[in-house]
Amino acid sequence: MEFFVDTADINEIRELNELGVVDGVTTNPSLILKSGRAILDVTKEICDLIDGPVSAEVVATQADAMIAEGRKLAQVASNIAVKLPLTWDGLKACKTLTHEGKMVNVTLCFSANQALLAAKAGATFISPFVGRLDDINLDGMDLIADIRTIYDNYTFGTKILSASMRSVNHIFESALIGADVMTAPPDVIKKLTRHPLTDKGLDQFMADWKKTGQEIL
Ligand code: G3P
Repeated sequence: MEFFVDTADINEIRELNELGVVDGVTTNPSLILKSGRAILDVTKEICDLIDGPVSAEVVATQADAMIAEGRKLAQVASNIAVKLPLTWDGLKACKTLTHEGKMVNVTLCFSANQALLAAKAGATFISPFVGRLDDINLDGMDLIADIRTIYDNYTFGTKILSASMRSVNHIFESALIGADVMTAPPDVIKKLTRHPLTDKGLDQFMADWKKTGQEIL
């Protein structure tokens, strides 16, 4: 499973990238707001840092304007994935932009039928929002499993990008189901390292090492 980071914070992306765990980045208007940066500037900086796909989202709602914004965003760098909402106009824009050879990430997906349409419109990525379904007492992970089954039934090439990952279990379950990609905030990715037995074991090793009186360097 590829790991994307869901942030527009360049310092957080740089820190995770040094560990080699960043296969791509996803942003959205809310994350651009949080960064306090101009969208084209921060997107360019991220693209210079990361080789993989960097999603940048349009804010128009009519297909023609979405296409124009998508083309402008795609000019920032060759690794831009234009992010489009899963609306009728968004799918029209998806069809046009993918025909032009641009990567497209169709976002705000909350049903398997929406994901089926996005695949038929040629989307590079489909982003089902797991956490937001959990928020309203539905099972977001069921949606990932349903889309996996449908895409495999027909060998659609659209990659399933599990989004709105709020916990390490969301990442674990996405990997078990076979999502192609997941995108999570940096703090959730960092939590993947944690295990109490690792901490306990390390404490014991350090205590015993001290008793040896030795040094390695
Ligand atoms: O990339 C968008 C998605 O991951 C949003 O997550 O936590 O705002 O629902 P969240």
